[in-house]
Amino acid sequence: MSAGGDILLTGYKAADLDKAVLAPGVTCHVLDIYHKHAIEKVFPGANVVCSADLPEGNWSLVRFRTGPKLCSAELSLDILQQCYGLGCRVELDFVGRERDRNELLAKIRDNPGRKRSFRAEWKASVPGVPAITLVSYPGCFCHRRMDEGGLALAEVVSRELKESGAESPAVLDMGCGCGLVGFLVKSAIPGASLVMVDSHSRAIAAAKENSRLLGMDAEFVLSDDGTDRKGIDVFVGNPPYYSEYRIADLFLETAQRALKPGGVCYTVCKNAAGLEPVQRRRFGSVEVIHRRGYAVLKSMA
Ligand SMILES: C[S@@+](CC[C@H](N)C(=O)[O-])C[C@H]1O[C@@H](n2cnc3c(N)ncnc32)[C@H](O)[C@@H]1O
Repeated sequence: MSAGGDILLTGYKAADLDKAVLAPGVTCHVLDIYHKHAIEKVFPGANVVCSADLPEGNWSLVRFRTGPKLCSAELSLDILQQCYGLGCRVELDFVGRERDRNELLAKIRDNPGRKRSFRAEWKASVPGVPAITLVSYPGCFCHRRMDEGGLALAEVVSRELKESGAESPAVLDMGCGCGLVGFLVKSAIPGASLVMVDSHSRAIAAAKENSRLLGMDAEFVLSDDGTDRKGIDVFVGNPPYYSEYRIADLFLETAQRALKPGGVCYTVCKNAAGLEPVQRRRFGSVEVIHRRGYAVLKSMA
């Protein structure tokens, strides 16, 4: 611990840091476990905490790196409000225009006592099944409204499971976000068991809250490297498509490992042309099912 108390850094990625992060009393907070692993790789021994909210501690200073290109305005305000709530000195390392920085700070300083809630509740449903209410938070995908691609995936999977007469399939929802796809599938097939994996702490926190509020049990895994879970009947994934499908391929590799022989892998994307060859390399064949302007890609294990 440093003489005046400890230092908390939040919003920093490995490339933003130098070896000062290794000094005693410095803690680095991240929201995504991928960033924890990336920082620990470059700075072995660094104290990195991955959690949905800022960790408690004997902080004398919290330094927050943000900006319009780094995170959403709502997530910035949520974290900044938490920074001021720690009761220590706050430094804003703002990447962007001075005007935007002042606007963000003014929202807190003009009304220091105000405690904003960033929690959102919204409804989603698949045909023939009552709607479910989902909770989300800034930073977790998707926040405030459902993702049409995720909905298309849930609709196709629920329909096919119903048609197949499956009563208690083991479903792995990778990149679950707040749980849209998995919980919708379970609303249609109540006997389904769910494993939910995401690399983002806020996604897992929201999915856990949704599990509790919906009374739908699930197993949760915070991981950026898939899971070793086996014996899965149905894999569902709405993967991110940046990094030239590297993450989408990690999803598919996990599906390959997890699925039982005869199990089914479903992914969704806007345009099948990019993902289809990646999925074909893993599974040999791919059926494309069009829904809501999205392509659901289906393969058998
Ligand atoms: C497009 S969102 C889909 C969320 C949700 N399934 C839906 O359809 O609304 C992709 C999700 O994948 C997660 N993700 C990104 N990289 C990941 C990784 N390496 N392992 C697990 N999840 C990851 C993100 O945090 C995000 O929640």
